[in-house]
Amino acid sequence: MQPQVAPLQEGKDSTARAPSRAFQLNLLKFFALFLILGLGASVLSMYMMRQFGALNLVPTPSSVYLPCVEESTNLDRWIKPPSSLMHSMNDEELFWRASFVPRINKYPFRRVPKVAFMFLTRGPLPLSPLWERFLKGHEALYSIYIHSLPSYHPDFSSTSVFYRRQIPSKVTEWGQMSMCDAERRLLANALLDISNEWFVLLSESCIPLFNFSIIYTYFLRSRHSFVGAFDDPSPHGRGRYNPRMAPEVNITEWRKGAQWFTVNQKIAVSMVRDTKFYPKFKEFCRPGCYVDEHYFPTMLTIEEPRLIANRSVTWVDWSRGGAHPATFGKPDITEAFLNRLLEGHSCLYNNQPSSVCFLFARKFAPSALEPLLEFAPKFFGYG
Ligand SMILES: *[C@@H]1O[C@H](CO)[C@@H](O)[C@H](O)[C@H]1NC(C)=O
Ligand SMILES: *[C@@H]1O[C@H](CO)[C@@H](O)[C@H](O)[C@H]1NC(C)=O
Ligand SMILES: *[C@@H]1O[C@H](CO)[C@@H](O)[C@H](O)[C@H]1NC(C)=O
Repeated sequence: MQPQVAPLQEGKDSTARAPSRAFQLNLLKFFALFLILGLGASVLSMYMMRQFGALNLVPTPSSVYLPCVEESTNLDRWIKPPSSLMHSMNDEELFWRASFVPRINKYPFRRVPKVAFMFLTRGPLPLSPLWERFLKGHEALYSIYIHSLPSYHPDFSSTSVFYRRQIPSKVTEWGQMSMCDAERRLLANALLDISNEWFVLLSESCIPLFNFSIIYTYFLRSRHSFVGAFDDPSPHGRGRYNPRMAPEVNITEWRKGAQWFTVNQKIAVSMVRDTKFYPKFKEFCRPGCYVDEHYFPTMLTIEEPRLIANRSVTWVDWSRGGAHPATFGKPDITEAFLNRLLEGHSCLYNNQPSSVCFLFARKFAPSALEPLLEFAPKFFGYG
């Protein structure tokens, strides 16, 4: 019987063993699941520890979470300029961010006001050696920003004051709104550094006419920003006004002026944050209305008339007539010419008569660099 039973039992056993194997398999799966759940739970708890550790709810030293890059939590994070000028903000985001300004006039730290020199160029800065000499020794008192064609790759050496001072730029066209966009982009990037108090728009053909100390003091003591603005009754002035700009802009408020402004922080913020006049100019001031000659002078005449001097501090020579001002090259740079540049001016400075009216001049060709470097110590007081 037994031999009969055995196979039967074996058979029984085998049939009994089958569910037991399935059971073992299930048990294995169960354990695996447990292991995964356990791992998940421990990862979760580590994460929670870090979170609460950072909030100091778990005060054990092991729970203190140290991120790789330590973010400053004191006032520094609001005072220090960004370490790199490159960012991925679009204009809308940038202008919004740049419009943040302190509302308490007294700074709770020692703020040294800086002058932001903003170069609006297509490509290279051929007069940069002159600027380097002008700026030498005043490192704490200025910052540099360059807006050039996006396709242009500058090759300033790492010792140059212009090294890595390019801001994210776009293509700009003379007389078009893209020109004012570029100017606002320069202002907005410069406003991200809270130390910048004065903002000077320059082209690649501009030169400084005085040493840094004189220019710095001139700005810091000025009660007005220097924006050229005048009412020109001719076809080249009022003739460019479009009545569809009313009621935001009345023809009596329509102004003209060269684009090369120097403004303080308050005016810079007004220019960047404007959403009231911008759409009117964008739509109704198109060539032959040259928007870069009208938008800021008109807008500031309406918004901040008492804060602008209505004159520019950038000298330019229109005496030769035509659509463009004169450009000066090597043969033009004589002692007589430089005397003409520096003398015989009169204007109002803080409502007082002054003979120092122009701090910068344009337009200078690359060939003018050599004689300008030579004459700079005697005539401009630097170099
Ligand atoms: C700047 O020029 C003025 C007047 O020419 C002079 O008195 C002053 O010493 C100069 N400053 C520097 C730092 O060279
Ligand atoms: C412009 O202002 C003048 C007075 O300052 C007013 O008489 C005129 O109606 C205004 N024009 C428009 C289009 O609002
Ligand atoms: C500039 O012109 C406006 C009128 O357009 C005037 O109100 C303002 O007082 C002028 N600024 C100075 C400093 O004279």
